[in-house]
Amino acid sequence: MSDDVLRQAPLFAGLDEDASNSLVTSMPETAIRRGEALFNEGDEGSDLFVVTSGKVKLGRTSPDGRENLLAILGPGQMFGELSLFDPGPRSATATAVTDTTVRSLGHESLLPILTEHPDVARALLHQLAARLRRTNEVVGDLVFSDVPGRVAKALLDLSSRFGRRADDGVHVHHDLTQEELAQLVGASRETVNKALADFAARSWVRLEPRSVVILDLERLQRRAR
Ligand code: CMP
Repeated sequence: MSDDVLRQAPLFAGLDEDASNSLVTSMPETAIRRGEALFNEGDEGSDLFVVTSGKVKLGRTSPDGRENLLAILGPGQMFGELSLFDPGPRSATATAVTDTTVRSLGHESLLPILTEHPDVARALLHQLAARLRRTNEVVGDLVFSDVPGRVAKALLDLSSRFGRRADDGVHVHHDLTQEELAQLVGASRETVNKALADFAARSWVRLEPRSVVILDLERLQRRAR
């Protein structure tokens, strides 16, 4: 199961069966309990990780102790590549949002793969470019969008990865506390709760603990624009 998820990661782009099998066997699995950090911002390290089950949050802490979440990653998604391509300390803390497993790859194993398999290098570049695009959008939203707009966008982003369609709407089991949702949106918990309560009052969403059901996707999309 974990192997199948792993093979969907960009690292495996264009690898033939033999290369793919040998890469899978060189990536040991690590289990992280909910709330446990895999590494901290500022740590040394250049291993690359792929989430195979569960969810990981990538966050930064301001000098006065406030937290900002850069991203929530789920199965098949990769992280830890920045310290590899731009040697330096980890740029964020990686913490398990729920019990999680990851597979890791040391940089000494990855570098020859990049040289021998240009498709893998291209897939990683594609992922980096997509991340930069998304980051630009987040920065733009922080400047141009109001908090409800950013909350709507965050819910849609989470639903694109963790959403499951059902008769009553899209069930998004994000596993985040209200505090973590606020850190992801970059606003106070009170303001984010107010936006969520407003969406619920309009029947756009139904709120459940660590989960949300999107009842009116179209309205939410319009609010996110
Ligand atoms: P690294 O700096 O090695 O460790 C933290 C990781 O978080 C980083 O590599 C990236 O893989 C990931 N990361 C950093 N910034 C972002 C971002 N804005 N969006 C998604 N992932 C990020």
